[in-house]
Formats: sequence, structure tokens, C-alpha cells
Amino acid sequence: MKVKITSDHAGHLAKEELAKRLEKEGYDVELFGSTSADKSVSYAEVGIEFAKEILKDKDDENTKYVAFCGSGLGISMALNRFKHVRGARVTSEEDAHLAKLHNDANVLCMGGRMLESDQVENIFHEWENTQFEGNRHIPRINKLDEVGEDN
Ligand code: RB5
Repeated sequence: MKVKITSDHAGHLAKEELAKRLEKEGYDVELFGSTSADKSVSYAEVGIEFAKEILKDKDDENTKYVAFCGSGLGISMALNRFKHVRGARVTSEEDAHLAKLHNDANVLCMGGRMLESDQVENIFHEWENTQFEGNRHIPRINKLDEVGEDN
């Protein structure tokens, strides 16, 4: 399984820690966005660049997408400007479960300044291991794709 992870500077350490943990578990991790916690980069620019990466992949089902900023809020706003991108800003395992079960979230957005490393890892696995329920939720997520940028 491939995992692509981006962040701004405020999410940089969380990105690096999650990457280290997932690589130990055997995931193939690729990093985007910030190169250091000390070099400020805009969550808007990082999020837009990452949305384009997801669309370029055509949301490959063998790739998971994770995005951090300080709170998880700004980066999710940037990502959700784009059709077919459903970034969910989550703060708990319950959020992560529902974000996949009902919303088929294809980008997990988290606040690097708000969560401990163990929480981040648990949230990732809860999201990854939950299946989208489909059914009544399908027209709702399709409706979202009627607006937004294509690339
Ligand atoms: C950066 O300082 C911070 O504002 C940003 O990472 C994010 O939390 C915004 O939503």
C-alpha cells in the first residue's frame, strides 16, 4: 500500500513521525509539501498542489492520501476546492470511522499541533480499515462533484 502525505510547516513533524511509523509497518510512503518545520509554507499552496497530485493519480485505490497543517482546517479547505477530492478534517477515531463510512473521505486531514503521534497513527488505521457504506451516501457524495475545480 502506498501512502502520500503532505503538510505545511506546522504539520511537518507530524508528517515525518507518521511516515516513520508507516514505513516500519511496511507501507511505501511518499512525502510532499514542507521540507522543514522551520521553513514556513502556505497550507493553501500545499493543499492545492496535493489536490492536483490526487487528481493526477485518479484517486488510485492502492494509494492513501493524508494531509496535515497546524489544525487540519486550512489544508482541508484548500483540498476541498477540487471536484472528486473529499478531505475530512478529523480529530478522533470516531471521526475517522464516519469520514470513510458515510463520506468516503479520500484525504485524511489532521492537525499536527493538536494530536499526539499515537492518536495520528490510530486515526490513520481506523480510516484506512473502514469501508464506505455506499447506498444512500452515493448520491450525496456525487452531488458534491457538481461544483469545484477540475484540476
Ligand atoms: C500555520 O501557522 C497554521 O495557521 C496552519 O498550519 C493551519 O493550522 C491553518 O489552518
